[in-house]
Amino acid sequence: MSARTSAHLTEKETVLHSWTVQDRWDAPTVVGGEGAYFFTADGRRFLDMSSQSECCNLGHQHPAVVNAIKAQADRLCYIANAWGSEPRARLAELLLEKSGFTGGRVFFTLGGADANEHAVKFARQAQGRARGLVIARDRSYHGASYATMAYSGDTRTRAASDPTAQRVIHALPPYAYRSPFGPGTDAECGLRAAEHVEQLIAREGAHEVAAVLMEVDSGTNGIVPPDSYWPALREVTRRAGTLLIADEVMSGFGRCGEWFAWQRHGEAGRPDVMTLAKGLTGAHLPLGAVVLSAEVAQRFEHEMLHTGLTYCGHPLSCAAGVAAVEAYASGDLIAQSRRLGGVMLDLLREMQERHDVIGDVRGGHGLFAVLELVADRGTRAPLSEWPGTPPALGALVRDGLQAGVSFATRGNLLLLAPPLVITEPDLVGSLALLDRLLAKHFPAARGAS
Ligand SMILES: Cc1ncc(COP(=O)(O)O)c(C=O)c1O
Repeated sequence: MSARTSAHLTEKETVLHSWTVQDRWDAPTVVGGEGAYFFTADGRRFLDMSSQSECCNLGHQHPAVVNAIKAQADRLCYIANAWGSEPRARLAELLLEKSGFTGGRVFFTLGGADANEHAVKFARQAQGRARGLVIARDRSYHGASYATMAYSGDTRTRAASDPTAQRVIHALPPYAYRSPFGPGTDAECGLRAAEHVEQLIAREGAHEVAAVLMEVDSGTNGIVPPDSYWPALREVTRRAGTLLIADEVMSGFGRCGEWFAWQRHGEAGRPDVMTLAKGLTGAHLPLGAVVLSAEVAQRFEHEMLHTGLTYCGHPLSCAAGVAAVEAYASGDLIAQSRRLGGVMLDLLREMQERHDVIGDVRGGHGLFAVLELVADRGTRAPLSEWPGTPPALGALVRDGLQAGVSFATRGNLLLLAPPLVITEPDLVGSLALLDRLLAKHFPAARGAS
């Protein structure tokens, strides 16, 4: 890495950074950004191919969002949730409109984890099952609070969480490339995963289960379920009278080519509750939300809601949210994500023909795709045991940074999730760089064609 600023040295000694061993933290200080790029204090510029934590869907410093925050800051920075607030009302109205949750209600949180915790809380209260079970799945991520670590099927945090105490059961994942249901097509894997949830509900007793909580499409753990999965899961939960919570924290706001990923399945995919964060403000300010269907919300019309957060529906964050939703709409960014996601998927599939190290390419419904790297494409032997990152992949990422492109990895996965405002030449250029870096770092695994 290049010249270190005093801010970097101070930060290295004082801040506890997430998801890292502290003495390995050595990142440059970022001081600015514009569109799909961010800039460091030592004068370098990086194309952001992961939207940071898959959250800067509008790119960095979207002018309309920044201006909306400034305008709201001039008027009113904070008012408690007990009082009314214009940006809060407007954002709730917009979210209900974009999701078609007519007559529903929105509860605002600070981010994704607390949105998921509240979604479960609401589902339990609405069902009258205070200790109702939650069915989540392996290879999922719902947050890093204690409850959401327990919901998550994430081996990194499993030892520190207690799903039993949180009344959580984990289902097998719709992971078609390594199907836990044995041989079959991708579509069959999706259907079997939904049937498996049905069996779990039957085993526990439908009256014991308050909710099924699942990611719809993209996710930190790199699973993109087959198309057959979500509508089948919806059908299973409807039959069982169990509420379906769609965790759209990552998949929402165009990331998967729709406002919300379930919309790809039309009404057949509509959940009872959905959780949002990340793209909700394009990460310009922290904000999460739980969107409840009219039916679920009805329960709270005459029943006390025993919950709240000091910063619930913070006016600055909601103003950022309103501007963000308007920016997605006015820039036609949802359709743009769908189109560029297709371009990205085609290029990645071509790349797979050239590099044997690419075992699987998935996603591409919008600007989210996953490359799963393998040691042997025939046997599908993983390049490293999950969740370890293969050293050559780490070297590839470092070379990418040298060339001014920031790629994200999780274990043996490369996650591609650029801002929706990325230009096509930048997208194509960064994938050409990735192609060259795969050839350099995985030469033995280069395919014949
Ligand atoms: C699907 C999903 N749910 C929940 C979360 C947690 O959100 P937050 O980090 O805002 O608490 C994340 C974060 O990556 C996520 O990807």
